[in-house]
Amino acid sequence: MALMHFLLLLFAVSIVSADEEPFIGVNIGTELSDMPHPTQVVALLKAQQIRHVRLYDADQAMLIALAKSGIQVVITVPNEELLAIGQSNASAANWVSRNVVAHYPATNITAICVGSEVLTTLPNVAKVLVNAIKYIHSALVASNLDRQVKVSTPLSSSIILDSFPPSQAFFNRSLNSVLVPILDFLQSTDSYLMLNIYPYYDYMQSNGVIPLDYALFKPLPPNKEAVDSNTLLHYSNVFDAMVDAAYFAMAFLNYTNIPVVVTESGWPSKGGSNEPDATIDNANNYNSNLIKHVFNKTGTPKHPGTAVSTYIYELYNEDTKPGVLSEKNWGLFDANGVPIYILHLTGSGAVLANDTSNQTFCVAKDGADPKMIQAALDWACGPGKVECDLLLQGQPCYEPDNVIAHANYAFDSYYHKMGNTPDSCDFKGVATITTSDPSHGSCIFPGSLGKNSTFGNFTAPSMNSSSDSSAYSIHSIEMRICSLVMVTGFLILGVVLI
Ligand SMILES: *[C@@H]1O[C@H](CO)[C@@H](O)[C@H](O)[C@H]1NC(C)=O
Ligand SMILES: *[C@@H]1O[C@H](CO)[C@@H](O)[C@H](O)[C@H]1NC(C)=O
Ligand SMILES: *[C@@H]1O[C@H](CO)[C@@H](O)[C@H](O)[C@H]1NC(C)=O
Ligand SMILES: *[C@@H]1O[C@H](CO)[C@@H](O)[C@H](O)[C@H]1NC(C)=O
Ligand SMILES: *[C@@H]1O[C@H](CO)[C@@H](O)[C@H](O)[C@H]1NC(C)=O
Ligand SMILES: *[C@@H]1O[C@H](CO)[C@@H](O)[C@H](O)[C@H]1NC(C)=O
Ligand SMILES: *[C@@H]1O[C@H](CO)[C@@H](O)[C@H](O)[C@H]1NC(C)=O
Ligand SMILES: *[C@@H]1O[C@H](CO)[C@@H](O)[C@H](O)[C@H]1NC(C)=O
Ligand SMILES: *[C@@H]1O[C@H](CO)[C@@H](O)[C@H](O)[C@H]1NC(C)=O
Ligand SMILES: *[C@@H]1O[C@H](CO)[C@@H](O)[C@H](O)[C@H]1NC(C)=O
Repeated sequence: MALMHFLLLLFAVSIVSADEEPFIGVNIGTELSDMPHPTQVVALLKAQQIRHVRLYDADQAMLIALAKSGIQVVITVPNEELLAIGQSNASAANWVSRNVVAHYPATNITAICVGSEVLTTLPNVAKVLVNAIKYIHSALVASNLDRQVKVSTPLSSSIILDSFPPSQAFFNRSLNSVLVPILDFLQSTDSYLMLNIYPYYDYMQSNGVIPLDYALFKPLPPNKEAVDSNTLLHYSNVFDAMVDAAYFAMAFLNYTNIPVVVTESGWPSKGGSNEPDATIDNANNYNSNLIKHVFNKTGTPKHPGTAVSTYIYELYNEDTKPGVLSEKNWGLFDANGVPIYILHLTGSGAVLANDTSNQTFCVAKDGADPKMIQAALDWACGPGKVECDLLLQGQPCYEPDNVIAHANYAFDSYYHKMGNTPDSCDFKGVATITTSDPSHGSCIFPGSLGKNSTFGNFTAPSMNSSSDSSAYSIHSIEMRICSLVMVTGFLILGVVLI
């Protein structure tokens, strides 16, 4: 029986492994004083070719805005709701009906995080966590959505003790009574271990033991690489060591086929005086190298070739987050959708290609007085010395022939002529900066990289989605999480068996 089972699993590998790819997603925290409207958030995600997001709740407006976007969405049962859900399967069914059934399939919900770092932040809720997970899952089964929507719970990597060398890592034993049933659940439902990994904190707390370069995925001289003396595996970065520690900690409890998805990882770009390594350069290096690492499919030393899909923490700087200055500065973008830094991704064909992340445009503000817009247009094409020839009849930007479309082009030209400075996009308050490329047809706006601004042709199949006119696409990295998970699981199992 067991052998038959294994053979079936191995057989499945050959079917599904060929075109499955790891992905990079982004977490969307909302503690901003001026949180962009969900439609603006989705516009930014599309402009940046971000195809996977994780929400910290199941905000209705956000789920509606994400409908038919081609973006895959992980939603969260907030910790505050866990007690109710863990004590009543009716509440769980209600939650699933409101937040999943009501939106699926228009909104492509692929997983539910039941709580967030519950074991470390709310130990008293831990006892209902397993029930909450099971009730949510049963509600999905009842709605026939359990294959499309996976259930798991993000864990802090701090529950893994003695994480180096990875081969000796184990889960904090006092959590076993909760963790073992969770691992049973993940295994039996083909789900995955959700892990939050922060080499930034590991580095900060190591008092100099962990070199900064090792945390930032920078090349290390071979004698500086960390070697696991039991396995003789060489570790060149903290991220891989943590992922392998999780695999070993699971194996220690005899779970060897549950894949890991990293639900949070990132680096702050700014910090207080006692956080000297929260810098733009380090944040850029960490996130750029992480993205390249995931897409390069290097895998980890324990599971080479099995890339670990990862959600970057996070989309926006959250200026109202309490705590130290770095807490507010983990974002890739500010509230206006302007990148905090440009990732170095050339050649990796990934999301957030560095040459597109800095694309901003200046356009007429929605609802601004058309007379003021006309006056500003006249100024831009006159004293403002913008080349407005393309707006003439017969030229590429003549159509649509209305004041707003023409002003958009003139404003954007002026803005780029002035070096994209925010104050060059004002026009007495009728203009605003946007990240959505207003180019249309052969009217390519200044600052636009045109259709080439989508990510390199990293992938084969064309996306062919009506909502996306990009010439290139990253379709093959947006397979359903669950299929990736299955593949990963099978590959791991394969490795174990061989
Ligand atoms: C809730 O649990 C009860 C008893 O365990 C069971 O009879 C019922 O079918 C469950 N309801 C749902 C919606 O799962
Ligand atoms: C292990 O978990 C228990 C219960 O949450 C906690 O009190 C303890 O501090 C943890 N041990 C370590 C070493 O983190
Ligand atoms: C794991 O499996 C081995 C061999 O079957 C067994 O000896 C060991 O007790 C198991 N460990 C746990 C934690 O279940
Ligand atoms: C990409 O993977 C190849 C082979 O797995 C490896 O040799 C190379 O160093 C990796 N590149 C990066 C940037 O990680
Ligand atoms: C975007 O590009 C402009 C120059 O085109 C540069 O001045 C600015 O610093 C860049 N922004 C970021 C966030 O790198
Ligand atoms: C993109 O990254 C490459 C290599 O990291 C760098 O040479 C190039 O200047 C970057 N482009 C922009 C627009 O920052
Ligand atoms: C896009 O790339 C093609 C080929 O590399 C080039 O001919 C074309 O001009 C580019 N388009 C834009 C808008 O940059
Ligand atoms: C797309 O990929 C193919 C094959 O990998 C390569 O030959 C081609 O130059 C790439 N095109 C672009 C625009 O990157
Ligand atoms: C896109 O899909 C439509 C209908 O599903 C199909 O007719 C068309 O050939 C597809 N285009 C590409 C490039 O695959
Ligand atoms: C969700 O996205 C995956 C990957 O693109 C796709 O296979 C699946 O059909 C989508 N589901 C829905 C309901 O759109």
